[in-house]
Amino acid sequence: MRTITDIREMQSIAIQLKREGKTIGFVPTMGYLHEGHLSLLSAARKENDVTVVSIFVNPLQFGPKEDLATYPRDFERDSSLAEKEGNDYIFFPSADEMYPVTPSVTAKVQDRTDVLCGKSRPGHFDGVATVLIKLFNIVQPDKVYFGMKDAQQVAVVDGLVRDFNIPVEIVPVQTVREEDGLAKSSRNVHLLPAERDQATALHQSLKMAESAIDEGEQDPQKILARMKEFIKKNTSGEIDYIEILSYPNLKQISRLEGKIIIAMAVKFSKARLIDNAIISVKKES
Ligand code: PAJ
Repeated sequence: MRTITDIREMQSIAIQLKREGKTIGFVPTMGYLHEGHLSLLSAARKENDVTVVSIFVNPLQFGPKEDLATYPRDFERDSSLAEKEGNDYIFFPSADEMYPVTPSVTAKVQDRTDVLCGKSRPGHFDGVATVLIKLFNIVQPDKVYFGMKDAQQVAVVDGLVRDFNIPVEIVPVQTVREEDGLAKSSRNVHLLPAERDQATALHQSLKMAESAIDEGEQDPQKILARMKEFIKKNTSGEIDYIEILSYPNLKQISRLEGKIIIAMAVKFSKARLIDNAIISVKKES
């Protein structure tokens, strides 16, 4: 495995690989790798000749009061995990390498940002879209792997690729969880021990909602109320949002039908966690 920190070097390797007819599978990350990231890499490994993982904590997608400075980092550990998974290249640029000057052009995401994380993190998806355009141009991937834990990100990136005719295939990968159901996240290390125990309530509340829908509940408000009550009772976290929307359009719905997403963000003392479930609501017979 090789680590590349220079944009031009990464780009010329990618161009050479393409000339040789090799396919490139790409996993963009912010590092502090866990099994969620590694499941994306494992899928990329199976489906491409060459794999590239990028590790870059992208300042553009963090708000002024967010955790850019404290975002966990450990390149040595990341590098050995990626190597064990059979990865070929790590692209690990510095912030100065990626943004030597304030960018003169950035992306503005127009749709699907008035809900969920887009609503509570203004500008976040603009930052994600901007860095991904750069990374796609540098790495020149055929397929790019994204986790469904960030379902809104997948929906936004789908739109980006379609609207800008970017010749890459987006491959969504299922959320990897801890044994008690907590979605794996780099931010979980910032949970206090008691919060770590409580954090399983996020997944439990999604499961609860799923059962209620299975049993025929059709009113999103009733489900939301039950979920909020459950989170408040079982955690010390502050609910940032819990929403039920159509998927992948992310529009408000008044009745549970078709494909929907139930998504939530809960703020603990030093970590804001997100989770979601995507459900196809059965039609009544
Ligand atoms: P990061 O949070 O590091 O996540 C990188 C990728 O790993 C994303 O596609 C994310 O959805 C996926 N992932 C995270 N936790 C997962 C889990 N438990 N199961 C499966 N996949 C999981 O998302 C970002 O970085 C950034 O926004 C990025 C796309 C790199 C742009 O800066």
